[in-house]
Amino acid sequence: MLSKTLENGFNDQIQKEFYSSYLYLAMAAHFESANLPGFASWMKKQADEERSHGMRLWEHVYDRGGKVELKAIEQPPAAFGTPLEVLQQVLAHEQKVTSSINALYASAFSEGDVAALACLQWFVTEQVEEEKTASELIEQLRMAGDHGFGALFMDKHVLGARK
Ligand code: FEO
Repeated sequence: MLSKTLENGFNDQIQKEFYSSYLYLAMAAHFESANLPGFASWMKKQADEERSHGMRLWEHVYDRGGKVELKAIEQPPAAFGTPLEVLQQVLAHEQKVTSSINALYASAFSEGDVAALACLQWFVTEQVEEEKTASELIEQLRMAGDHGFGALFMDKHVLGARK
């Protein structure tokens, strides 16, 4: 059975994952408006992933006899900057998510809740991947150029090629 402390922690993390989904959808809308469909597609796929992260935590709460309480999701920004600036915001956001996953992991560790740790280990690994991906995209966009042909190349051949 999940402790009340961990149940609250999981519910907070579910909110963060759903906010991440909403934030990336806002970024997708920004790119749709900017006529960068590849960037928009990447953001929509990312938003879908974030929702699945929230649901993965949801399943663990119920598998452990807890209860999900959905919290309010704040309004994401409506205006973003250049493609490079948006990707930098993605990385900064993922770094914040990593911190909260790590804090939840530490909380489960202090309780000796090995089942919660097994669930959260997946998220620890996922966060390494998410930060790596965002960093790589930032560096590639820097190489290609954050405007004109470079941004169009990244749109079509890199972000737009995401499966
Ligand atoms: Fe689910 Fe991108 O953190």
